[in-house]
Amino acid sequence: MRFHRRKGWEIPESEATPPEIAFSRRSALEAGVAGLVVAATRPAAAFSWFGGEEKPAAPAPPDPTADLYPARRNGAYVLDRAVTAQEINAHYNNFYEFGMVKDIAAAAQALRTRPWTVKIDGLVEAPREMGIDDLVRAFPLEERLYRHRCVEAWSMAIPWTGFPLKSLVATARPLSGAKFVRFETFLDRAMAPGQRAFYPWPYVEGLTIEEAGNDLAFLVTGAYGAPLARQHGAPLRLAVPWKYGFKSIKSIVRISFVAEKPKTFWEGLQASEYGFWANVNPDVPHPRWSQASEEVLGAGERRKTLIYNGYGEFVAQLYAGMPQGRLFM
Ligand code: MTE
Repeated sequence: MRFHRRKGWEIPESEATPPEIAFSRRSALEAGVAGLVVAATRPAAAFSWFGGEEKPAAPAPPDPTADLYPARRNGAYVLDRAVTAQEINAHYNNFYEFGMVKDIAAAAQALRTRPWTVKIDGLVEAPREMGIDDLVRAFPLEERLYRHRCVEAWSMAIPWTGFPLKSLVATARPLSGAKFVRFETFLDRAMAPGQRAFYPWPYVEGLTIEEAGNDLAFLVTGAYGAPLARQHGAPLRLAVPWKYGFKSIKSIVRISFVAEKPKTFWEGLQASEYGFWANVNPDVPHPRWSQASEEVLGAGERRKTLIYNGYGEFVAQLYAGMPQGRLFM
């Protein structure tokens, strides 16, 4: 579905999409090894890195947690704009494991979400590995309306369902040496053709232990009153709405409590453009475009971007006294 007609002031997708900066089409061709790997593993290559996988996916089995939806809405999280229409959100995504196009929904149906386990490990008193259905049922689910601001200068507003990350942190009982939380996405080159390309897979993200304990940090299991669609990062993703969208890692299989700042996927590719902190700030431009405003997808309008994406009252204190420069990159 094409709903997005570009206007003169918009950033062409080819300029704003992070991987094209870090790993241009030309360098993709030059990285012949990656190309050979793709060709060798998929002789009848249906996958195009820029076009996703075209093969039809088998119908998805019913989600074993479907009875938990819709969850009660938590009224503490209010929006200053309308919720983005589900059909727009469902067809404008970033999920590089399945390709680089925004309409990745069809290709992402190849994601198998059961069986699925999540490992909680590292510097904790209670390490464990849990099946996703037990994990989802271990915490009361709630719905929250969150803004979602991509580093590419577009935004949406989404009714996520899930539970506070801090609840999971509490049950893991971090040791005093745990200073950061590291999140990791699945690694399965057979299932996810994008992972056959020359990137530092798996996708990794991280938060400080204080950020992970903030009320806003949310582990997402559903959206729009139903279990999470595959293209949104089923069966478990993060939502940290005061940060650029790339921090909100999808399809999580491992949550580790660590002493050192984790090296994130995008830092590994282009640290000068996509740093660890990535807090939203309209006054700190991306090296190649302004972050002063955002296209509100589906609303036909452009809005001024707010510091911390409008969530300063929740999170500004996390950064009090810290050097400001890198916090916004
Ligand atoms: N997580 C994984 N594993 N792979 C990805 O490609 N893309 C990130 C983030 N999490 C990504 C990911 C980026 S750049 C954004 S903007 C958001 O997911 C997009 O989330 P959405 O598709 O639900 O809007």
